[in-house]
Amino acid sequence: MCGIVGAVTERPVNKILIEGLKRLEYRGYDSAGVALADNGQLHTVKAVGKVANLENALAHAGVKGTTGIAHTRWATHGGVTETNAHPHVSKNQIALVHNGIIENHASLREALKGDGYEFLSDTDTEVMVHLIHQLREQHTSLLAAVQAAVKQFEGAYGTVVFDKNNADEIIVARSGSPLVIGLGLGENFIASDQLALLAVTRTFIFLEEGDVARVTRETVEIYNQAGERVEREIIESTIHQDNTGKGEYRHYMLKEIYEQPVAVRNTLEDRLEGSRVAVKAFGERATEIFKDVKHVQIIACGTSYHSGMVARYWLEQFAGVSCNVEIASEFRYRQSFVHENSLLVTISQSGETADTLAALRLAKEQGYMASMTICNVPGSSLVRESDLAFMTKAGAEIGVASTKAFTTQLVGLLMLTAAIAQEKGIDATHIVNAVKSLPSKLEEALTLAGGIETLAEEFADKHHSLFLGRGSQYPIAMEGALKLKEISYIHAEAYAAGELKHGPLALIDADMPIIVVAPNNELLEKLKSNVEEVRARGGIIYVFADKESHFESDETMRVMNVNHVEDIIAPVVYTIPLQLLSYYVAVIKGTDVDQPRNLAKSVTVE
Ligand code: G6P
Repeated sequence: MCGIVGAVTERPVNKILIEGLKRLEYRGYDSAGVALADNGQLHTVKAVGKVANLENALAHAGVKGTTGIAHTRWATHGGVTETNAHPHVSKNQIALVHNGIIENHASLREALKGDGYEFLSDTDTEVMVHLIHQLREQHTSLLAAVQAAVKQFEGAYGTVVFDKNNADEIIVARSGSPLVIGLGLGENFIASDQLALLAVTRTFIFLEEGDVARVTRETVEIYNQAGERVEREIIESTIHQDNTGKGEYRHYMLKEIYEQPVAVRNTLEDRLEGSRVAVKAFGERATEIFKDVKHVQIIACGTSYHSGMVARYWLEQFAGVSCNVEIASEFRYRQSFVHENSLLVTISQSGETADTLAALRLAKEQGYMASMTICNVPGSSLVRESDLAFMTKAGAEIGVASTKAFTTQLVGLLMLTAAIAQEKGIDATHIVNAVKSLPSKLEEALTLAGGIETLAEEFADKHHSLFLGRGSQYPIAMEGALKLKEISYIHAEAYAAGELKHGPLALIDADMPIIVVAPNNELLEKLKSNVEEVRARGGIIYVFADKESHFESDETMRVMNVNHVEDIIAPVVYTIPLQLLSYYVAVIKGTDVDQPRNLAKSVTVE
């Protein structure tokens, strides 16, 4: 989704801003822009499409500056046009970029129009810059004007502002959209994600909700929501810059698919003690909480929601606790029942998904015994605001379609299942042993790539597809369908195979590929009956099956054999062929695999 980069330096900032935006490209956007302050002049350059277009436009304009702000926009209010792209400017004096949505923009716009402000764009953001300009006239500093302005904003914002008449300072404000300050020597930086700044600094301050900060070359002053001066922790980033490149791979997504054995190994490292899970990996209070927990409420969005759905099977079967799983955007707007001794678990790659964060904040008022997150980004909002956190160690995930974050979330959830079981005196040795075998099992699954690439050719001209699974493979079928639609734009639906006869059978014909995940478990015979129901109606079936499942390829069925794995880890392993299938179909179709149309990596607006 939208990305922000800002810099106040003594050297020209053009390259820093463009490089920063390029590092945020993976998040999804449709236009980009920069505003530069240069000796009392304000220059704004914008372009629709890729950051490379902006880079060309900037070179063509021949402008520079030592203070600047830059933005990649993912359209919410107003179409994809240069005028709607950020930065927005008021009276050729104040420039502003914004992530988030200002919900009361209509009323603010009317009032500002009444006061003579002229609006050029259709965005909600433009009200911010005009309001700040208006308040600047009434206050002694830009900082004070921004502090006054944020009191009038309803909605979410991470915003960065400067005044060309005093371009030695940048003012930033955060509520609902993350912002990080990068510290340099005689220069400081701002971004919506530390990844944007790794080329210039590794030292960061994460702003907290309600913070407003004044950033100059030499100083950072932070004020909390109450307007009090506060100190925030300075953190050294542990992300390796080199890992954010594509390496030998054609796409980030392929690289990230292949990184899964290592990502899982890293996630397990130091978290196991012999045949037990090291419960402290979840946080200080984990032991006492897991002992008493009777119910787990999982909340997440997108791919992370699917990992939660798998966990329901594990927690109820192996840890003896009941479990509900809900999409965050639904949970946050309904009156839900809080079970006795219920642990709230959010799952998120980014730790910044607006709906998941809002659901956590709501749940904190509702009497859960504790909150926990399974998350891939240290220092993110979900991590900071939860009582317990299990950090997945997938490393930076750049492809919009989540792969290694998902499988490491599943590992985190297996560890949670084992940890709760352990604390309740239930033997979890079998879970730990199975988890230990995962890296090698994932490596084996990756060897299917060649065969799947060939298979993918049969999908390239298809418009619809159906994914089937049963038990804990049902959410894996859902995740497989999501991957295919995200990156290949083929309509894909997933069904619990037992539901076929209640509707989807009506869709079956030779143009509708049916993808089945079929490990060898106690549901296999039931699943085989479902497959026969499809065959009897002329469907073409693609089965990813355990070697011992005895499916045979013929003219209506293509079988890809997966090495036998223990049932508890089968959802993790069967994810791999489905990721590879969507990847190769997308490559054949020529879509933008890493940045699929209309999608964003981190959804920080509702
Ligand atoms: C977006 C991404 C998905 C992701 C979802 C939830 O839609 O494109 O890949 O699963 O957000 O994100 P989170 O960071 O909370 O896991």
